[in-house]
Amino acid sequence: MDSPALSILVFRGHSIRLRIPSHITWRREKGGPAAAIPKLEAPQEGEALANLVVVGAQWGDEAKGKIVDYLAQNAAMVVRYGGGNNAGHSVTVGSDEYKFHLIPAGILHPETVCVLADGVVIDPGVLVKEIEGLQARGVSVANLRISAAAHVILPYHRLQDALEEARRGDDKLGTTGRGIGPAYADKAARTGIRMGDLMDPERFTARLQAALDDKNAVLTKVYGAEPLEAAAILEEYGRYAHALRPFVCDTPPLVAQAARNGKGVLFEGAQGTLLDIDLGTYPFVTSSHPIAGGACLGTGVGPTQIHAVIGVAKSYTTRVGAGVFPTELLDATGDTIRDRGHEYGTTTGRPRRCGWLDTVVLRYAAQVNGLSCLALGHLDVLTGLEEVKIGVAYTNGAGETVRDLPGDLPFRTDLAPVYETLPGWSEDLSSVRALTGLPANARRFVERVQDLAGVPVATVSVGPAREQTIVLDDVLARALRR
Ligand code: IMP
Repeated sequence: MDSPALSILVFRGHSIRLRIPSHITWRREKGGPAAAIPKLEAPQEGEALANLVVVGAQWGDEAKGKIVDYLAQNAAMVVRYGGGNNAGHSVTVGSDEYKFHLIPAGILHPETVCVLADGVVIDPGVLVKEIEGLQARGVSVANLRISAAAHVILPYHRLQDALEEARRGDDKLGTTGRGIGPAYADKAARTGIRMGDLMDPERFTARLQAALDDKNAVLTKVYGAEPLEAAAILEEYGRYAHALRPFVCDTPPLVAQAARNGKGVLFEGAQGTLLDIDLGTYPFVTSSHPIAGGACLGTGVGPTQIHAVIGVAKSYTTRVGAGVFPTELLDATGDTIRDRGHEYGTTTGRPRRCGWLDTVVLRYAAQVNGLSCLALGHLDVLTGLEEVKIGVAYTNGAGETVRDLPGDLPFRTDLAPVYETLPGWSEDLSSVRALTGLPANARRFVERVQDLAGVPVATVSVGPAREQTIVLDDVLARALRR
């Protein structure tokens, strides 16, 4: 693992404290050839770090883990604010690959406190396995904190998820089957069980029994399924409670204090903007708030404590599950992108639907998240394509151009994407570390995405490894400024 040096990056008279790993080269990219690496100074007394949200700008699976891992070097705390083990991301460190479903990727940095906040829904069996898996690989989880207010996924949630999907037939949502939707539904119905309840055997028994009375009635009478036994659940979940007890606490004061103290809090979004229950492509969405605003709802931190929002997007688009996808490629190019990008779910292994980058979606994400900058990923996956397309708008049934994402997008059958076609490139990008090192056509692609999205690109990823990242230091510094 890297042991980054503490550095000061000075930008327009503002200093930002960053721990920059030795393998990352920082160069000014704007205005021609790379200039000198910024002067590194000793940290100053009382210097405050920005609190950042990292959010998926598409339909999830944007490789947020990699940028979170990168930024976590500088953060005292990484907080996961929503979703559950429907999420999943991989982080590559050297030759090691780590897959995470619940625990923030920041756990790979030994000094970083990692929080599963109140907006998360937790399947405790999965979490215990993830903890044990990390420990077996020598990764300490001593800095893990779990909110007592996070809701617990129970066996009946997983069962309900499967039964409801089967009942929907052709109209199924294509959920991950992890019980996410039913757990959030119980939370809203105020019948949910929280981590704090799980830690108290008496309270857990009473709340479980009350919940099971209702759940078993639905399972047996609506679905003709077998009822669930309280005793078996109590025994299994009692073991999880024992394993997780050291980590459970009231996290809102911890997060608020770190955010106020200027220690640098990184809020890690799960899923993506278009899967948001309110602002996504409803009903083909998840049941939480992946958007940047979800960081406030899901952690107890106030909006004034957030200084920047980094949107993560691939250089193309993917989606899993059902629902609208205007730039989807159902041809050989889609298959090529899937194969080259290893576009199979980290959580479910499902092949992801692949298509061209849609900047209507990116502009929408920029708007609803208030994006400060973009982390553009998977540029290397497009290498070798003769030409590369970017979705810039849609045309509707009347032949009109639609530039903004329509609220009724999931039900529009008349929309067709309008593309801009750019020449492709064939050069290997995997060792490029500066924008100036990209082939001209790849650089043109990045610049065009930036123009169309209306958001500056701060990082470009050219491979899965930590160091396979081009950092536009001036853009990142501006975004990270408090
Ligand atoms: P659920 O979150 O399992 O209820 O699934 C609802 C929808 O969100 C489905 O279309 C899923 O495929 C999608 N979804 C949930 N989590 C993720 C994710 O982490 N990445 C991409 N899609 C997701």
